Amino acid sequence: MWIGFRPCRPWHRDKGSKQEPAAPAASAPAAPAPAANIYVVGTDAAYAPFESQNGKGEIVGFDIEVVQAVAQKAGMEVKFLNTPWEGIFNSLGQGDRDLLVSAITITDERKQTMDFSAPYFDAQQLIAVKKDSKIAKFDDLKRLKVGVQNGTTGDEVITRLQGKDSANIKRFESTPLALKELEGGGVDAVVADNGVVVHYVNNNANAQFRTISDTSFAAEQYGIAVKKGNAELLEKINKGLAAMKTDGTYDQIYAKYFGAAPAAPAAAASK
Ligand code: ARG
Repeated sequence: MWIGFRPCRPWHRDKGSKQEPAAPAASAPAAPAPAANIYVVGTDAAYAPFESQNGKGEIVGFDIEVVQAVAQKAGMEVKFLNTPWEGIFNSLGQGDRDLLVSAITITDERKQTMDFSAPYFDAQQLIAVKKDSKIAKFDDLKRLKVGVQNGTTGDEVITRLQGKDSANIKRFESTPLALKELEGGGVDAVVADNGVVVHYVNNNANAQFRTISDTSFAAEQYGIAVKKGNAELLEKINKGLAAMKTDGTYDQIYAKYFGAAPAAPAAAASK
């Protein structure tokens, strides 16, 4: 190794030195090959139980375990990077992230700019209100202050109800921020994905929330997103997903987070 020849050489570089310590001579033995191909996974880790940061700052959750299992089946190495929802789709388009897992609902609009794996989870919007609230159904939110995470499907449904210029829609950077606002009384309701709302209500008894579902909410499905046209990666992911569903890994992860095997393997059955 280069530094072996000059054990006394100071670490900082001498001015005018011809040797570039950072660039070993061409004859130096090749450095160990960098771990094949590490796929960078973007996730907005403020969305328990799907993705969140634990006390040690590690990114954990249902989505994380699903992608880890997919990667294992597909022989891929993955690394998760916390990526704010606001810029998450751009990070994919720009190539800063190879794939996204973030409880992302597959929508026709999003399909224009990215490609999705087969669906891996069924979801629906759910309303959170204070226990003593008089709100009974979605339509009651027409003229009330409603908190959502900016740019989510929750944002879409309330925007449709109130109109896009409504001053009563309070758009937050994250869903927990919207729920905190409800706790503090700054909004009358929050509309977000059922899994996240239920998890929050169950884990924050002192918030005194209850939930309201509404038949007008469409069925949603989560998918793993890749850059539009990245068919090679998409195929790996879909094969990995299929394999971890077939061998029971998916059900195990599902049971760990949601207490039972999924009622119907809708995700597996869909196109
Ligand atoms: N499913 C909703 C959507 O796709 C919300 C997802 C938000 N995910 C997150 N990790 N913050 O719009």
